[in-house]
Amino acid sequence: MSLSEVSTSDDLATTRPRYAIVGAGARSYLYLRALTGEHAGDGELVGVCDPNPGRRERAARVAARAGVTIAGFGSEDFGRMLRETGAERVIVTTPDFTHADYIVAALEAGVDVVTEKPLTIDAESCRRIVAARRASGRQVRVAFNYRYAPPRTLVKQVLMSGIIGPVTAVDFEWRLDTHHGADYFRRWHRNRANSGGLLVHKATHHFDLINWWLGSTAQTVRARGRRAFYRPETADALGLANRGERCTGCAAFGDCKVKLDLTASRSLTALYADNECHDGYFRDRCVFSADIDIADTMQAQIAYENGIVANYLLTAYDAAEGYRVVFHGERGVLTLETVERPYLAEDGGLPSPPLQETSRVVVQPLFGKPYELAIPFGEGAHGGGDRVMLEQLFGAVGDDPFGRAADERSGAWSALVGIAANASIASGAEVSLADLAGDIPRPEAAGAPFGPAPAWRSFDLSAYPFLADATALEAPAR
Ligand SMILES: NC(=O)c1ccc[n+]([C@@H]2O[C@H](COP(=O)([O-])OP(=O)(O)OC[C@H]3O[C@@H](n4cnc5c(N)ncnc54)[C@H](O)[C@@H]3O)[C@@H](O)[C@H]2O)c1
Repeated sequence: MSLSEVSTSDDLATTRPRYAIVGAGARSYLYLRALTGEHAGDGELVGVCDPNPGRRERAARVAARAGVTIAGFGSEDFGRMLRETGAERVIVTTPDFTHADYIVAALEAGVDVVTEKPLTIDAESCRRIVAARRASGRQVRVAFNYRYAPPRTLVKQVLMSGIIGPVTAVDFEWRLDTHHGADYFRRWHRNRANSGGLLVHKATHHFDLINWWLGSTAQTVRARGRRAFYRPETADALGLANRGERCTGCAAFGDCKVKLDLTASRSLTALYADNECHDGYFRDRCVFSADIDIADTMQAQIAYENGIVANYLLTAYDAAEGYRVVFHGERGVLTLETVERPYLAEDGGLPSPPLQETSRVVVQPLFGKPYELAIPFGEGAHGGGDRVMLEQLFGAVGDDPFGRAADERSGAWSALVGIAANASIASGAEVSLADLAGDIPRPEAAGAPFGPAPAWRSFDLSAYPFLADATALEAPAR
């Protein structure tokens, strides 16, 4: 269901709802460009709020080029923006630690919210958002774009079909390379107070996928984590002497393979380098600094309320980027493996021309051959997920059989896995999510319970439409 369909205001069916954006950084442009371009007919962008005047003015200029006039406001004027622009929906694209205050303020002002992930970074804020949502009667949508990427939606479809029977165990490994992974160690994300660390900031996507795929929520988490790569000792071992606080002006710049050149891209320059003068925020801080306090190597063992157990591994300094998730079921195994980038260039930069992302979904029923499934084509960023999500968010789409629209309950129950993992790393003990969640309701389990399991000894290919274009393999994918 799109937000347009759940509006409580009668006239919204005939007029375009008014949107405002808070946080005018990189991610905000997904929504700004949609509302001033392809989805301009679905909503009217009326305001932008950001403490950095350079970035909010840039947002207004970009909108103006598309013929849309938007008013700019400082962060202290968020409430005034909602009042003066008459915004009915606010899109939250600020650093993670600020999400909760904006979401709650918007709800209390009677405004619906679309928020970027993670919903927030601590348990108290999760409870606060859920309480405010309930009291206000408004809507919260969490932009879990990962659900919409075609291979991951296909996995949901396969699980819903029941072809591998009830799932018993999941193995999920996510690898970020030294291009993408390093970025979290040079930006605001590098301090846990801002992002909750990667177990919250990044892994909320992954924990949400597992919750959604399995139609369940986590019960307990035991985790470990440490910073193994992004620390001064690694830079010393790489011979990077006389390092500066940031890449700009660093004496080791020429030799460093994990650097960022802020002048290399027009958007990096326009968004960040040109606006440092306003707030002193450096987007290119040294990834080997001693003052980073988030882990780059994280592992969690998660027990789910429906009895499933999961192993999760996240690393942020790999030679290649991608992920692999294996579902073990009582009637078979399902594997999704995606290589987002097989390698980096010798200087540590992106290969040119860019390398193609590849995904493989293989299902192997018990006592049968494995089948590699045909994956629908996905266009654009995040494996095609962003584009489909925007269509669902802004466009008038019918019911989604895969239940991909996520609300604050899904946002909370995925963030809580990372929050519990952080608590487990700190204490060394297993952590129960119920203790953190309080009265936060579980999300609706879309598509679960899963379909009828196939008979043990007579696998019937024709019962599963997604196998129509599948290729039978002689050996399993793994
Ligand atoms: N779903 C995805 O795949 C995805 C991808 C990228 C980012 N994100 C999310 O989007 C959000 C923004 O990330 P980004 O990469 O655009 O970061 P960014 O640093 O590029 O932009 C953040 C913006 O927020 C502004 N800001 C800082 N403090 C603020 C405050 N108190 N009030 C209002 N604005 C404030 C900054 O000036 C900046 O313009 C994060 O929550 C991140 O997790 C999601």
